[in-house]
Amino acid sequence: MDRLEITGGVPLEGEILISGAKNAALPILAATLLSESPVLLENVPSLNDVMTTIKLLRSMGAEITLHDGWKLEIDPRTTTEYVAPYELVKTMRASVLVLGPLLGRYGRADVSLPGGCAIGARPVNLHVAGLKSLGAEISIEGGYIHARAEQLRGTRLTLDSVTVTGTENLMMAAVLAKGETVIENAALEPEVLDLATFLVQMGAKIEGAGTGTIHIQGVDNLQGTPYTILPDRIEAGTHLLAGAITGGHVRVKQVRPSNLDAVLRKLEQAGARIECGSNWVDLDMAGERPRAVNLSTAPYPGFPTDLQAQFCALNSIASGTGKIVETVFESRFQHTLELQRMGANIGIRGNTAVSKGVDRLKGAPVMATDLRASASLVLAGLAAAGTTVIERIYHIDRGYECIEEKLAQLGARIRRLPI
Ligand code: EPZ
Repeated sequence: MDRLEITGGVPLEGEILISGAKNAALPILAATLLSESPVLLENVPSLNDVMTTIKLLRSMGAEITLHDGWKLEIDPRTTTEYVAPYELVKTMRASVLVLGPLLGRYGRADVSLPGGCAIGARPVNLHVAGLKSLGAEISIEGGYIHARAEQLRGTRLTLDSVTVTGTENLMMAAVLAKGETVIENAALEPEVLDLATFLVQMGAKIEGAGTGTIHIQGVDNLQGTPYTILPDRIEAGTHLLAGAITGGHVRVKQVRPSNLDAVLRKLEQAGARIECGSNWVDLDMAGERPRAVNLSTAPYPGFPTDLQAQFCALNSIASGTGKIVETVFESRFQHTLELQRMGANIGIRGNTAVSKGVDRLKGAPVMATDLRASASLVLAGLAAAGTTVIERIYHIDRGYECIEEKLAQLGARIRRLPI
């Protein structure tokens, strides 16, 4: 397994291009199953999770061609299998996103239960309950969700709690259902809105996506369309934090600044000078040490849980004491154990991490446990004195495109060590 070696202490300077959003690409790839003709996707990030999804769709019979620059042409007309096998789903929970489109378009789906992961139990009960309300017959046996439906029927759904992929699965199931579906307490994430925009371009009738209530009028069929995936706000936030933690000056380009509001406010509280253009964000620490900030994660437009671990790293070397509350997932503080091994002074009480900033972290061998925890360790390594080697970086390759190349463009001393 590859490792990343980082020699810290260099203030990052420069600008980088942000890739397409992983958490928009995955549901949109699943949604191509709904189409009756080929789809052309642009700005698809070259990530392991995208490759896993391509493998999954191909295993169902869809034809997928990779053009230069990660343009993907997907022709779902040759789909003959409606199964998402355990071997694939266990490597990527988001495979559950094929459930809604398979059920909506083909009336059947056998999808392995995704199971939990390092950050929590990650149940899919809200997905299943919503699909049953749309008229699906669902049984869970042998670790699989077996779903059948002659014809889904529109209904009014109120989600007990906000779920991003739950909202996405139900929206994809509803677009070909008979009649109107209303999803209340829907997730507001920009990736949900991007999926809805893609579905509308394929001919779906959806209103209210990006608000808490989504209205979907079922149609008879959807047709292929060209579509460009929205930029990855979490990748953008991670690289801005790399600039902040090293006291540098970083500009991220090809982003939507409005999707980063909560994050930019917290970076300003940490002492960063933030400037925004139409499709870029500039962060300048002017060589200053960051100030510790308090934050609590929340569904969009609140502070994103996917940047919580990265902010923990920033707080660990900031001046003062910072309190971070994780309200979305029940065990998303694995990274703090590794940060402590680098000298961070972080105490965990329940869903709260309180850190008292230290002057300098010290490089050390550390281990990645999940995608965003590994990003947190990269940031810590960039700021630490000495060298940090991060093991199990297959986690990071799931969600960050060429992270070491992008950081090296900013002056980081970072390299991949093949085993
Ligand atoms: C999506 O996961 C993202 N993944 C996650 O990003 C992100 O952290 C999360 O949303 C929250 O923003 C993708 O979009 C592929 P949820 P998802 O359903 O949809 C509970 C990353 O690092 N819940 O919004 O799985 C759940 O346990 C990943 O890129 C139920 O109880 O998250 C959690 O506590 C990590 N029952 C909360 O809701 C359900 O049926 C929010 O989960 C569904 C969810």
